[in-house]
Amino acid sequence: MTSPPFHRQSDSPRGRPETEDTESIEIQLFLEGIYRKYGYDFRNYSLAHVTRRILARVSLLRLQNITELLALVLYDEAAFQEFLRDLSINVTEMFRDPSYYRAFRKEVVPLLRSYPHIKVWHAGCSSGEEVYSTAILLIEEGLYDRAQIYATDFNPVVLQQARAGIFPLSSMRGYTTNYLAAGGQRAFSDYYTADYDSAIMERSLKERMVFADHNLVTDGVFGEMQVIVCRNVLIYFNRRLQNRVVGLFAESLCPGGFLCLGLKESLTFVENESRFTPVSEPERIFRKVVSSIHPTDSPSDLGHP
Ligand SMILES: C[S@@+](CC[C@H](N)C(=O)[O-])C[C@H]1O[C@@H](n2cnc3c(N)ncnc32)[C@H](O)[C@@H]1O
Repeated sequence: MTSPPFHRQSDSPRGRPETEDTESIEIQLFLEGIYRKYGYDFRNYSLAHVTRRILARVSLLRLQNITELLALVLYDEAAFQEFLRDLSINVTEMFRDPSYYRAFRKEVVPLLRSYPHIKVWHAGCSSGEEVYSTAILLIEEGLYDRAQIYATDFNPVVLQQARAGIFPLSSMRGYTTNYLAAGGQRAFSDYYTADYDSAIMERSLKERMVFADHNLVTDGVFGEMQVIVCRNVLIYFNRRLQNRVVGLFAESLCPGGFLCLGLKESLTFVENESRFTPVSEPERIFRKVVSSIHPTDSPSDLGHP
């Protein structure tokens, strides 16, 4: 008997193609299905995160398997929207990680003073608590008048909450503690009005905020930013998607611009790592290196610090 003229790398010892376990096939089909039906691309999210959320929903709905969940979300958009809420973890708070805000005041603010205009992009802003925190910090540092904050997320529900700027009054005690630990200079209650069980953020805070839908997986560069804050978002992405998003940030920042990540995130092993230098390693604040001239960088930026 003659052997085949080619050798299939993936053949198992018995000559059959390598097989995958059913759950991993179902997860891939599920992610492919929602991408093709609804345009949301989770194919490069962290597999562990995606698997956890899918299995949790299968169990919650008492379904037999992931294939049943796929059928459900393909035929029922409301069921998909529910699942979308599961997948986009929206946990956030005001002045979360106070030490980051202290480092921002100490290391970033003095350099921002040299810019006539300061554009800040909050990518993955969730319901906006972090955006209002930055606005308060910039007010206290006398920089808000020349700032513009762009706050984006791909989840329209949280974006609407961010726009409204109304938060549970019950959260304000914890936020006040964070604010003071973050170097806050006033009474935190100066920034909101209590109304029954809600805290309505001061209107003046919103004046320099623009909220917009932006998907980090599929959408493009976002203007010429002096600061990008993208905290606790990259942890949900796999390495390939982290590479894409950090590349997007490098293109969106002016030379010398700042990139702020979450405390569990880093640029180590990310493709564009060499385009950044650490400003505060523990607080995950980085600066785009001035010599990082890239074909898409505008020459007019090169004079900035
Ligand atoms: C855990 S929250 C972090 C919120 C805030 N940055 C913080 O640290 O407090 C993650 C946010 O990332 C958003 N997100 C996830 N994937 C995204 C994507 N592809 N494009 C834009 N936002 C995304 C989620 O909707 C969610 O609001």
